[in-house]
Amino acid sequence: MNTPSTYQQVLFVGPGLRDGSQGQAFAAALRTLRGAAPNERIIDTLHSFDGLWQALQAPRQHLGEQVLVVDLEPASDSAYLDWLRDELARRAAAHPQAPRLWVTASALGRRGLAADAVCAEVARSERHLPCERVAPVAADPGWEHPPAHARHLFLCTGPRCVRRGALARWKTLRRHLLDHHLVETPGGVLLTRTACQFPCNRGPLLTVYPDACWYRIATDDDARRLVDEHLLGNRPVAALLIHPPSGGLPDA
Ligand code: FES
Repeated sequence: MNTPSTYQQVLFVGPGLRDGSQGQAFAAALRTLRGAAPNERIIDTLHSFDGLWQALQAPRQHLGEQVLVVDLEPASDSAYLDWLRDELARRAAAHPQAPRLWVTASALGRRGLAADAVCAEVARSERHLPCERVAPVAADPGWEHPPAHARHLFLCTGPRCVRRGALARWKTLRRHLLDHHLVETPGGVLLTRTACQFPCNRGPLLTVYPDACWYRIATDDDARRLVDEHLLGNRPVAALLIHPPSGGLPDA
């Protein structure tokens, strides 16, 4: 399907675009680069996507034939984009006057909201994806049910923990968990990356629930030790804890 040469509307969609400092700076930079374009809107999805869904309910004569949704979700990945395109496709199908929808993701990740990069993305029509005939998004277990797990691991990938090696720890942790068939299995773990958990100076930080253990995982050996001793051996690793769990350490 050929991408359109022009869009009647461009919607910049992402969390924290209205009130956050980054969002305000982004909006100002966008205005400088693109002018006060009446056919462009910024929609904040920090609390919900309702603003986007409502915007797309407008009659076609207001929206135009072709609408580009520029996704600015910093944690976007392929599964997230599949979900967004699928959701947009379903809503368009339920709305006879819906415009043809296209999606692109800036994939800015942790570089933050760079308005010039976003504008470049708008111009790169070969990367824009149609919201039609989107392959079905897997419904089980990813989108309906919590995956099987006995413990939930929250690895901080906030800015300070990343500087201290959190992303390298994430890879090692995930590799070691996979080697032991512990990723999303009964008795295994659900590994989630998070924003700042606050004790930044003691990071890279990993919390384990329901055990309420707060760990500093400074090295790859620490990551493997945590898996071997806490997750496989069911013994919290006292040497890696930044403070004891509120209920105290269980008896060895
Ligand atoms: S950045 Fe990790 S705890 Fe703050």
